Amino acid sequence: MATLMAASPLLRRYRVTPRGAKASLTEALRERDLVLAAVDRGAVVGLAWLIMTRALDRAAYLRLLLVSEEHQSQGLGAVLLARAERDARVSGCRHLVLLVTKTNRRARSFYERHGYTHVGDLPGFVRAGIAESLYLKTWRA
Ligand SMILES: CC(C)(COP(=O)(O)OP(=O)(O)OC[C@H]1O[C@@H](n2cnc3c(N)ncnc32)[C@H](O)[C@@H]1OP(=O)(O)O)[C@@H](O)C(=O)NCCC(=O)NCCS
Repeated sequence: MATLMAASPLLRRYRVTPRGAKASLTEALRERDLVLAAVDRGAVVGLAWLIMTRALDRAAYLRLLLVSEEHQSQGLGAVLLARAERDARVSGCRHLVLLVTKTNRRARSFYERHGYTHVGDLPGFVRAGIAESLYLKTWRA
C-alpha cells in the first residue's frame, strides 16, 4: 500500500515518500481506521482509507481513495468507494466527507457522478499553495 501511495503523482505533490506513506498507514492501522485494499496478482492496485467519526453529525472521512495509474478507468475506484460507503453506513455514519485537490478535475467529476456535493474550497488547508475542495454525501433517511 505504501508503494502504491509513493508512486502516485498526486501524492508526490503532497511530498508523500515511501517512508512517510508507511508511517501514515501504520498510524491508520493502530487507530483502527478502515483500510480497504484491491489486490491483483499479489500487488496492491487500489486502496480506500476511511476514518469513522462522531463529528459532523456522525460523518465518515474518506482520507484517501487511490487506484494505480495502470488500473484506472476499469471501475475499481467505484467499487472501492461503494464498499467504503457501505462500511460507513454499517458503522452508523450518516455522511461521508472528503477533500480533493481543487485542480483534480477528473477526481472531482468522479465524486460528483457518485452523488457528492461540492461544499466549498479550502485554500492551503493541507499544504501551502494547494487548495482543497470539500465534498459531502448524506444518506440520512
Ligand atoms: C479518482 C480515482 C480514484 C478513480 O478511480 P478509477 O478506478 O479510475 O474509477 P472508475 O474506473 O470507477 O471510474 C472512472 C472512470 O472509469 C469509467 N468507468 C467506470 N467503470 C468502468 C468500467 N467497468 N469499464 C470502463 N470504464 C469504466 C468511468 O466512466 C470514469 O470515466 P473517466 O475516466 O472518463 O472519468 C482514480 O482516478 C485515482 O486514483 N486518481 C488519483 C488519485 C485521486 O485523485 N484520488 C482522489 C482524491 S483522494
